Amino acid sequence: MRRRDLLRCGAAAAVAVGVVYPSAGHEKPAAVRLGVIGVGGRGTHLLGLALKQGVEVPALCDINEANLARAVGLVEKARDGRRPEAYSRGPTDYRRMLARDDLQAVLIATPMQLHAPMAIDALRAGKQVFSEVAAAITLDECWGLVRAAEETGKMYMLGENCCYWPHVMTILCMVRKGVFGDLTYAECGYVHDCRPIKFNTDGSLTWRGELARDYTGNLYPTHSLGPVAHWLGINRGDRMASLVAMSTKAVGLHDWASRRFPEGHLARQVRFKVGDSTTVLIRTAKGAVIDLRYDVISARPHPTTTYYSLQGLRASYESRTESIWLDGRSASYKWEPLDNYAKEFEHPLWARWRAEAEGAGHLGGDFFVIREFLQAARTAGPSPIDACDAAAWSSIMPLSAKSIAEGGAPQEIPDFTRGKWETRTA
Ligand SMILES: NC(=O)c1ccc[n+]([C@@H]2O[C@H](COP(=O)([O-])OP(=O)(O)OC[C@H]3O[C@@H](n4cnc5c(N)ncnc54)[C@H](O)[C@@H]3O)[C@@H](O)[C@H]2O)c1
Repeated sequence: MRRRDLLRCGAAAAVAVGVVYPSAGHEKPAAVRLGVIGVGGRGTHLLGLALKQGVEVPALCDINEANLARAVGLVEKARDGRRPEAYSRGPTDYRRMLARDDLQAVLIATPMQLHAPMAIDALRAGKQVFSEVAAAITLDECWGLVRAAEETGKMYMLGENCCYWPHVMTILCMVRKGVFGDLTYAECGYVHDCRPIKFNTDGSLTWRGELARDYTGNLYPTHSLGPVAHWLGINRGDRMASLVAMSTKAVGLHDWASRRFPEGHLARQVRFKVGDSTTVLIRTAKGAVIDLRYDVISARPHPTTTYYSLQGLRASYESRTESIWLDGRSASYKWEPLDNYAKEFEHPLWARWRAEAEGAGHLGGDFFVIREFLQAARTAGPSPIDACDAAAWSSIMPLSAKSIAEGGAPQEIPDFTRGKWETRTA
């Protein structure tokens, strides 16, 4: 299924679902030959899903020997004992793996700070790329990614699994069928207490802790922004034009460390840059506003980590209560459960793959990111979430930091489509 099918709904898209190979014959397609860089928690989970979907894995790379050995074992088991080659000779050994000519595609699930350099190297080595979120940390990296995809013509996909959640795709269907009318406002947030995973047990910082120490702004924008960007047609009919950002003081991580580590411990002396809670307001070229919140530090339970709301001229949606109101259809003053419309507006991807997706992780989103990536890789089709999308969504991080540093001053968001945002469909 191509991006236009992800964005489209109804009968036409339903026909496209399940059309896996353009050759239309019944011959078994060649398996995608996939290498993985980074087999920690996330990379190992995605590797498992990819193996279930029939990939060949000739090579794996990680600098952590234990993680690498675990992943090698996983592949060996799935491939009847055939052992993938393991690359672990240091932080740039992935380049040796990229030089192999039997790899068609690469999945990157390393710490966020490494995504863009590794993705750019992989594209330039002629590989198709799946990158974990976010795609990049600086504006230079965002542009580097766009240029590498343009110049090599290789497919790049950001693995934003939240875009494939069932409720998110139901709303996408409703938007595409005009139920909301013109869209004016969206609210979204990633609010997830991640304090424990900023520190190792000895109090040293994990890569997530280093990110919080070294950067400010919204450091994880895509889980919240991705679904909203799809609803609003960002880079396909509209685009994010400017933003302003504000952040609270940075106190939560220091407080957390102070209550866990003894006086004089290094963990208590780290000065974290990122504010506990950050709010970004984004205005689109067509006049919609997105209110985007990020908070991974404040103390709170998190039955869900993200929330979304959407306002159109004729409908309103609230994910926190899973409710919707349709002008002319819902009773006056009464929210309805979104479930009332789940069948009528079920996305074709969910209609086709529900049994396989459920239980695959993150409400089925993990199944679909892998499936859609492999689909695009096999067919050399367009990416459902391409380098322009990845760059635009990820640029919120450096631009929000700049706005905060300048007292909330507006920042222009670059047009990564180079003027094509109004007419692009794929
Ligand atoms: N989409 C989601 O829902 C989701 C969920 C969790 C994590 N993530 C993302 O996945 C990525 C990985 O997260 P994680 O929780 O698995 O982290 P992790 O720390 O468990 O794993 C990262 C792995 O990368 C390896 N690594 C580090 N530097 C390397 C290098 N130079 N070369 C090769 N390997 C290297 C580490 O040794 C480790 O095994 C992050 O970007 C994170 O944001 C996404």
